[in-house]
Amino acid sequence: MPPTQHRIIIGNSQIMPEIADASMHLMITSPPYPMIKMWDHQFGEVNPKIAALWHKLESERMEETIRQIYDAMHESLAKVWAETYRVLVEGAIACINIGDATRSLNGRFRVFANHSRIIEHCERLGFTTLPYILWKKPTTKPTYKGKGAFLGSGFLPPNAYITLDCEFILIFRKGKLRHFPPKDPNRYQSALTKKQRDEWFSQIWQITGTRQTTSQMERRTAAYPDEIANRLIKMFSVKGDTILDPFLGSGTTTNAATKNGRNSIGYEIDDELLQIIKKKTENSVVETDAEINITTR
Ligand SMILES: C[S@@+](CC[C@H](N)C(=O)[O-])C[C@H]1O[C@@H](n2cnc3c(N)ncnc32)[C@H](O)[C@@H]1O
Repeated sequence: MPPTQHRIIIGNSQIMPEIADASMHLMITSPPYPMIKMWDHQFGEVNPKIAALWHKLESERMEETIRQIYDAMHESLAKVWAETYRVLVEGAIACINIGDATRSLNGRFRVFANHSRIIEHCERLGFTTLPYILWKKPTTKPTYKGKGAFLGSGFLPPNAYITLDCEFILIFRKGKLRHFPPKDPNRYQSALTKKQRDEWFSQIWQITGTRQTTSQMERRTAAYPDEIANRLIKMFSVKGDTILDPFLGSGTTTNAATKNGRNSIGYEIDDELLQIIKKKTENSVVETDAEINITTR
């Protein structure tokens, strides 16, 4: 296999003029999660209408404004899903890691079911929804009255809440099944083992440990574990394919693509993350002789 090639583009993935139509073989990503506080500021920067709506929230018609903010955040993400649809080849898979959000607003604790909004937007764009994965995370503590842990009265019915201890890995396909020439060597060299097939194609993934070992900067990007990127790449692409991540963060997808003999393109809007992307990918790039090309818009 020739060395793999990787592009990092520092810019907004709502438009991807650097990528031709129908040229990417898989998309895996984790976007900023709507209605999770740590992403409020960035949503407002990418879409100033959202920032203006947060200001309006102080004064009038709170429930309506909350709905408008939530809608606008998903519309902002949907621009990226639309570009993704354009650049994927027929039959390509798109995997989106997303968590729902809980939040107290206007005096009410509630859940914002991000996964269902993303499914609706992606179906409207033409994607077919496939069975999804629930990533069970052991670290989250139970919640009571919107706080991080059960308080004493959490034992008394009926006012405690279910803990959000799973995130979703939504899976979509563009068009019909992907077509390969008979006995395609790349496809055969990418075959999974029986153990991988049996474990990975089940709906609940219990992946532990990785987050505790990450640096403060990686926590700022809410990096997903390497294991998630590795599995998805092996399950839904073949060697020599090109993988897209429109919300690259710390570069986990680039790193996994490099290690698995796939090419990649990643977009990241926050130029401060470039250092951490370089650091995360440097070993795999050197070990595999991969080429990495970084551009800033
Ligand atoms: C949840 S993080 C991704 C974490 C990544 N999976 C990892 O393992 O490090 C989402 C990333 O998307 C970036 N982002 C948000 N909006 C963007 C946009 N419109 N274009 C490109 N990047 C964006 C954020 O700066 C953030 O780093």
